[in-house]
Amino acid sequence: MINTVNTTPTSPSNYKQGIIDYYSEAGMDYEPWSRRFNMHFGYFRLGVNPFNREAMLDEMNNQALSRLQLSLNKANTLLDLGCGVGASGRFIVSNTELVTVIGATIVPWQVKKAKELSTDREFQERLTFELMDYCKLPLANQSIDGAYALESSCYDKGKDKRRFLEESFRILKPGARLVVADGFTKGEKHTRLFNFLYRKVCKGWMLDDFAGVDVFVKAMRDIGYEDIQVQDASWRVALSVMYVPWVSLKYFFSKIFLNKSDMKIEMGHFVAPVFGMLMGLHRSQYGYHIISARKPIKQDRQ
Ligand SMILES: C[S@@+](CC[C@H](N)C(=O)[O-])C[C@H]1O[C@@H](n2cnc3c(N)ncnc32)[C@H](O)[C@@H]1O
Repeated sequence: MINTVNTTPTSPSNYKQGIIDYYSEAGMDYEPWSRRFNMHFGYFRLGVNPFNREAMLDEMNNQALSRLQLSLNKANTLLDLGCGVGASGRFIVSNTELVTVIGATIVPWQVKKAKELSTDREFQERLTFELMDYCKLPLANQSIDGAYALESSCYDKGKDKRRFLEESFRILKPGARLVVADGFTKGEKHTRLFNFLYRKVCKGWMLDDFAGVDVFVKAMRDIGYEDIQVQDASWRVALSVMYVPWVSLKYFFSKIFLNKSDMKIEMGHFVAPVFGMLMGLHRSQYGYHIISARKPIKQDRQ
């Protein structure tokens, strides 16, 4: 075992621009993964058809929604922190009556595409998309009834994602919950093979670092979150991960067939999920977690 050597840190502005460029260029490449543009892994439970990938992807949205523990007989405003092109927001609005969702992303292309995909009447009044950095939200303190981040909090810098967690805490109303679903490293010592895969995955998805589960939970506690619930959902997402090689190969050969000369982004897009799958086999060093927590009703700070 050796200590983790993470990806080379980049300056904050280059880092943010890298994410924007990546998602602007690779945006449409998520369509072969999900016709509804769910840009995350799926969640399996009894009753969800494992041969229907889209159903498992939607179930992940459902899991996030249920962990927010909303009282659904009153109006709630939710914030989707790192909304992609809005699939989770569309799912939530379609499956609830009084919930409004604001989607936040730093990628202008995603805001435009999310709006194009959300023109149905049911979405018009209850779903908006804004160009917003989840580390610096232009929202008032205590203005949001619940927030979730599906495979997006990993983009905050550092292993504890502290800026993301602090900003989420600030905008949540007392008693409101935050739900995060993402890959997390475990422990501090990692093998050479794991580090090799880790660096490839981070590079392919333009990430500095995944969160470490222990430091992330500790940061939550330090900030003031309570009722922190941690589920290692690796086996729940495993069935959807098994679709990765097939979808990635299909995607890669379709790009070769189109005779694209510069395949850099596509290569990263192909390599990251496949290496991510291998990385996920290192169960003692990495796992997919769903973590939720509540902002206390009575607070010492803020
Ligand atoms: C893998 S995608 C997940 C999208 C969406 N949550 C879903 O599951 O369909 C990661 C998202 O995080 C967003 N993101 C990364 N850094 C961000 C930041 N600082 N503020 C807001 N969004 C960010 C990206 O723009 C992208 O939309």
